[in-house]
Amino acid sequence: MGGTSSLLDVRNEGDILIITLNRPDKLNALNRALLKELDEQIEFAYGSDAVKGIIITGSGAKAFAAGADISEFSALQPHEAQLLSQEGQLIFEKIDKLTKPVVAAVNGFALGGGFELALACHIRIASDNAKFGLPESTLGLLPGYGGTQRLPQIIGKGRALEMMLTADHTTAQTALNWGLVNAVTTQEELLPASIAMLQKFFTKAPTSIQEILRCTHLALETSGTSFLQEAKSFGRCAGTEDFKEGVQAFMEKRKASFTGK
Ligand code: COA
Repeated sequence: MGGTSSLLDVRNEGDILIITLNRPDKLNALNRALLKELDEQIEFAYGSDAVKGIIITGSGAKAFAAGADISEFSALQPHEAQLLSQEGQLIFEKIDKLTKPVVAAVNGFALGGGFELALACHIRIASDNAKFGLPESTLGLLPGYGGTQRLPQIIGKGRALEMMLTADHTTAQTALNWGLVNAVTTQEELLPASIAMLQKFFTKAPTSIQEILRCTHLALETSGTSFLQEAKSFGRCAGTEDFKEGVQAFMEKRKASFTGK
């Protein structure tokens, strides 16, 4: 595989597969079609001896990915929302489970599902303009692509809850201080630094790399029950008036007014 599909730009740099989310006019929001293409590329990378590592990044200077595509939320019924959550969880868990290192090169906004994608990657490197956040509670939802499970594992429960319950954006520097990202670079240096980190890994024993990734994944493994609860909770939220109001408010570019119904 590789090449430019409609929603991803994919190229090889030596042994590295660089996947660029390619909807810059929508801040690389993750719609279903893009997620399907991403899934296909991950399957390809899994089976290809030519790929030793992966970088995921966003096109344009503004965003890694500004979340799941909210325009696909408007007619969503609770059971469909639960399914959507489960589909996303499966793809992101495939990434987390890979025994080839995956770096998220976060080049701008990493919000909602975009942030959850970065959380599913093994390493995060951010450019100095990057902003991280989970705005789902502003939409009457919760992070439904594994974020409620992975974020507390990475930065601890208190900070994770603060991010989820305030929906505030976190700067690259704070993300570095919290151990959410491994390094912060200039925008120009982001890809070279990500490539350099992978190339350093590749100088080590390939079997060691594989087995270290396998074991650390197990150490932080989230049970199927927790993922299922996250998807069910996503579905429950999607059945509320507040969800309709949250999505409507985003589309109308205004602040949501919640009633608790
Ligand atoms: N889903 C769908 N479209 C999105 C999107 C998303 N998650 N995030 C951004 N876009 C679209 C905007 O609707 C806009 O489209 P338009 O030009 O057709 O109106 C375009 O991307 C540019 O975004 P805009 O909001 O105009 O840029 P901004 O610089 O003013 O604001 C953000 C940037 C990231 C703060 C803002 O886009 C935002 O809050 N996005 C949603 C984040 C979110 O809630 N994500 C969680 C989803 S679960």
